[in-house]
Amino acid sequence: MSYRAVKGMNDILPDEVARWHALERAFRETAELHGYAEIRTPVVEGTELFVRSIGETTDVVEKEMYTFSHHSESLTLRPEGTAGAARAYVEHKAHAKEPVSRWYYLGPMFRAERPQRGRYRQFYQAGCEIFGDPGPACDAEMIDMLVGLFRRLGVADVVANIGSIGGAATRDRYRAVLRDFLAPKAGELSDHARARLDANPLRILDSKDPRDQAACQGAPNILDVLDEADRAHFEALLGHLDSLGTPYVVDPLLVRGLDYYTRTLFELKSSAGELGSQNTLCGGGRYDDMIRGLGGPAVPAIGFAMGLERILLALGPIDAPKRTTCSVAPMGARAVSKALELGRALREAGVVADVDGRGNSLKSMLRRADGLGARFCIVLGDAELERGAVQLKDLAQHTQEELPMAAVVARVAGGAG
Ligand code: HAM
Repeated sequence: MSYRAVKGMNDILPDEVARWHALERAFRETAELHGYAEIRTPVVEGTELFVRSIGETTDVVEKEMYTFSHHSESLTLRPEGTAGAARAYVEHKAHAKEPVSRWYYLGPMFRAERPQRGRYRQFYQAGCEIFGDPGPACDAEMIDMLVGLFRRLGVADVVANIGSIGGAATRDRYRAVLRDFLAPKAGELSDHARARLDANPLRILDSKDPRDQAACQGAPNILDVLDEADRAHFEALLGHLDSLGTPYVVDPLLVRGLDYYTRTLFELKSSAGELGSQNTLCGGGRYDDMIRGLGGPAVPAIGFAMGLERILLALGPIDAPKRTTCSVAPMGARAVSKALELGRALREAGVVADVDGRGNSLKSMLRRADGLGARFCIVLGDAELERGAVQLKDLAQHTQEELPMAAVVARVAGGAG
């Protein structure tokens, strides 16, 4: 019997993790510079939270949730982070503590999708949510932050697509318009789309089925049915982006796959690197009705989440800062405890240190030091112990010198230059 990771769920091995750290660091720094504070919510929530907030007739809720029952409770592995953040916002009465909350999160999400490059069953998102600010300036600031972050990361060809889905009244009106447009073509739709025609025709717009895509050609444009307040919000947002000089493209067909959105929607796409068809790096929008819908006060909200695997596919190598590494190679049992002491002293001086305690030959210890990418190797055997000295090998310069034991830590810490 051989064990393998679950399909669509990947190991991230130590030699890949440096790129993850660099990406996560850039995200955290950017979010914190914009006043966001980190929140960590559980990876499991009551199923009903996702059904209520994401929407019963979305792909995520209909087909993609990992749901299980435990002691008669129905629980679900979170397919996204917004519902949990909103639940925490309501549960902890955050609105009573501050008028505006800016939260960010990083972590694994779970969707039972068909795995392919850029689409996994466990994947990592980094996201931000703002609660309590209804204005288009905050939408513009968020989109500008994302464009800036992708630029800083060096993701090429990023395009910010922006649309609006209006408020509840606009959406009801648009649903009716869309239903009237699609009803005569019901026979051409996929079975799944036909079943959604009454309950949620908007979802047909983002169907991947070519029959549905053909039927949607020439569909009425939601931007044409926005009411006055929705239109004013959308135009103010575009005005702010124009004055910031933030590039964007208006996409009148943007609908997004989750039902909680109101007004502003956006997606950032790229064709860079090894991204294939899964080229949406980041998606988000406003969801002004969710907090009230979850039993909280009427607090408006906006947010986004980006898929970290997809961004890493879009990026080439990321230069992670390298710290000086030193391997300590004791020759013989007596030298081992001195080597452990030296290892500790090196780390206290900020040097990454590794003590090779395997009792192997010098050649094998040097090979390992090389494999670790160590700059230095300190060799100490019985003869050196007698003299209170060590041999310091500089593996980059291919030199060796004997130093007093008391001097070697300072020499290594200062000598990586
Ligand atoms: P979403 O569009 O479902 O939105 O996901 C956001 C991003 O997560 C996508 O653009 C993609 O990069 C990544 N992603 C989604 N599914 C997968 C997958 N199966 N494998 C790899 N990456 C994936 C949300 O999740 C919303 N919660 C965003 C949001 C926050 N809206 C408001 N606040």
